[in-house]
Amino acid sequence: MRVLLTGGAGYIGSHTLVELLALGHQVCVVDNYANSAPEALTRVRQISNRDFRVEEGDIRDRDRLTAIFTDFRPEAVIHFAGLKAVGEGEEKPVAYYDTNVTGTLVLLEAMRASGCGKIIFSSSATVYGNPLYLPYDEAHPCSPTNVYGRTKYMAEQVLADWVRANPGTGAVLLRYFNPVGAHVSGRIGEDPQGIPNNLLPFIAQVAVGRRAKLAIFGDDYDTRDGTGLRDYIHVADLARAHALALDYAADHTGTEVFNIGTGTGTTVKEMLAAFERACGHALAYEVVARRPGDIAACYAQPEKAERLLGWSATRDLDDMCASAWKWQSENPQGYRSEE
Ligand code: NAD
Ligand code: WQD
Repeated sequence: MRVLLTGGAGYIGSHTLVELLALGHQVCVVDNYANSAPEALTRVRQISNRDFRVEEGDIRDRDRLTAIFTDFRPEAVIHFAGLKAVGEGEEKPVAYYDTNVTGTLVLLEAMRASGCGKIIFSSSATVYGNPLYLPYDEAHPCSPTNVYGRTKYMAEQVLADWVRANPGTGAVLLRYFNPVGAHVSGRIGEDPQGIPNNLLPFIAQVAVGRRAKLAIFGDDYDTRDGTGLRDYIHVADLARAHALALDYAADHTGTEVFNIGTGTGTTVKEMLAAFERACGHALAYEVVARRPGDIAACYAQPEKAERLLGWSATRDLDDMCASAWKWQSENPQGYRSEE
């Protein structure tokens, strides 16, 4: 299938690209490198020994996007491009709505103009907001508590409205839980700029000596050991979910939402212990105050993805930490290690 990946140079996009190339799809990546590096794509070529098209461009650039669509004529789009830092979204709401919502609108116009009617969208468990019950299933009400989450939920609604208005089209909305880990080769992985916002990249940078110690944001939550509990999902499992979602979209019209998680929660302290097993040494930490906006626990009911997509997670916490450690230890400065 001819598949266009917006944001394909990013963390989840690059891993999905490897998966799609292995399955024989023809791929075109559109990315402006706002939060990624062309080096990731060079490495995908090496890992997969397959070529693909790359178009440097901004998804909000109508003319450019239309030209790319007219030329490549994708049969489906996987829409990863977006801004994703929760804290930054509070400071720059217009930039977040512009990229995540306007970017989606411009993309849909380009799709319509070129006759492409199938889209897989990177949504997030953050759209649910504070849990009314756990695990979250797809019917849990959506009430996002931050700007980033609202942009994602708004984009979901835009997509559903577009599909309703255009018979024969289809959208698969994948609500990722907490993606972590790296490709088994250690050649591609998560490469946050500046101080990592997320737990696993932070731990990995402590392990490799880039940061002195982990700050654990609170140990007085109502969880097994008092630290926050999340549903971590290996990025390679997540990549496979996109390949299956493409198959599903090819055979179905309408909008369908899927949780992509393991269904199991891991606490911060459990994650730290798992990473210590992977890297082979103890990691320094201190407990500090809770991070504003954090919830105690968040995990998925992933049964729908198993039933309709034939997808379930196969990799465990040790696989997640071992692959993250291989990536971090072999590329201590991320993609800049190459320069
Ligand atoms: P990422 O930042 O690594 O990848 C996003 C990619 O989009 C980057 O390559 C960036 O350069 C590109 N991009 C940003 N703005 C663009 C624009 N205007 N035009 C073209 N390209 C643009 O992030 P990721 O972790 O790979 O996330 C991918 C998607 O998944 C995002 O939409 C994110 O909101 C969503 N998501 C991520 C997580 C997570 O924890 N990583 C969880 C849930 C959902
Ligand atoms: C996990 C746990 C922290 C860092 C975020 C976004 C969400 C989604 C995934 C995009 C929590 C604790 C963290 C640290 C810590 N992204 N922690 N010290 O908050 O579940 O989700 O990423 O869609 O929208 O909100 O992930 O990795 O930041 O935190 O103790 O330095 O680790 O308190 O319990 P989170 P996270």
